[in-house]
Amino acid sequence: MNENLRLQEKTESVASKRADWLIPSGVFVITLKSGQKVNAYTAAWVVRVSEEPVMVQVAVWEKNYSYTLAKDCTHFVVHILSAGQQKTALHFGRKSGRDTDKLQGYSNKPGVSGVPVLKDCLAYLECEVIFRRQFGDHMVLVGRVINSGINSRPGGPLIYNHHDYDEPGVDIGAG
Ligand SMILES: Cc1cc2nc3c(=O)[nH]c(=O)nc-3n(C[C@H](O)[C@H](O)[C@H](O)COP(=O)(O)O)c2cc1C
Repeated sequence: MNENLRLQEKTESVASKRADWLIPSGVFVITLKSGQKVNAYTAAWVVRVSEEPVMVQVAVWEKNYSYTLAKDCTHFVVHILSAGQQKTALHFGRKSGRDTDKLQGYSNKPGVSGVPVLKDCLAYLECEVIFRRQFGDHMVLVGRVINSGINSRPGGPLIYNHHDYDEPGVDIGAG
């Protein structure tokens, strides 16, 4: 089937179920630390909320292991994945830190706050938590950016549409 037609049909079938699933986003890996516990998860729900000073917001689902860290972490790091990093997105987004050390094998070093900063990403923003609140089934953290960096990589950021969620190996980044 023609690729555009296939995507159009898929988008329409998703739209008939959930309008919010049509909100597009980037793909990010969030690292966070609470006491001695460190973890990382893939996120699509990341937005800017202030430009001066720079502040960003993440939302952590209450069923995730990361949620237990999000409840009292003081800092987190947002890593913007680049086009072609689908494998990384699936690694951090399809396994839980409850069962495995997901950071093993992923080169990283502590940021100024001590939270791991991953080497392999398009850019990162290290944040100090300035607001934390439960909204429905997610914990929202707003962070003020205290440190950031950009890596030279080909292509732009990895883009995600929720209709790709069930076939991530195929379509994350196709939107
Ligand atoms: C593309 C993609 C986007 C995701 N976005 C989010 C998100 O914004 N918030 C969230 O809590 N989980 C999100 N997830 C799901 C978590 O990454 C996933 O449940 C992960 O296994 C949680 O790991 P943890 O149990 O170690 O915290 C996303 C997963 C994928 C593949």
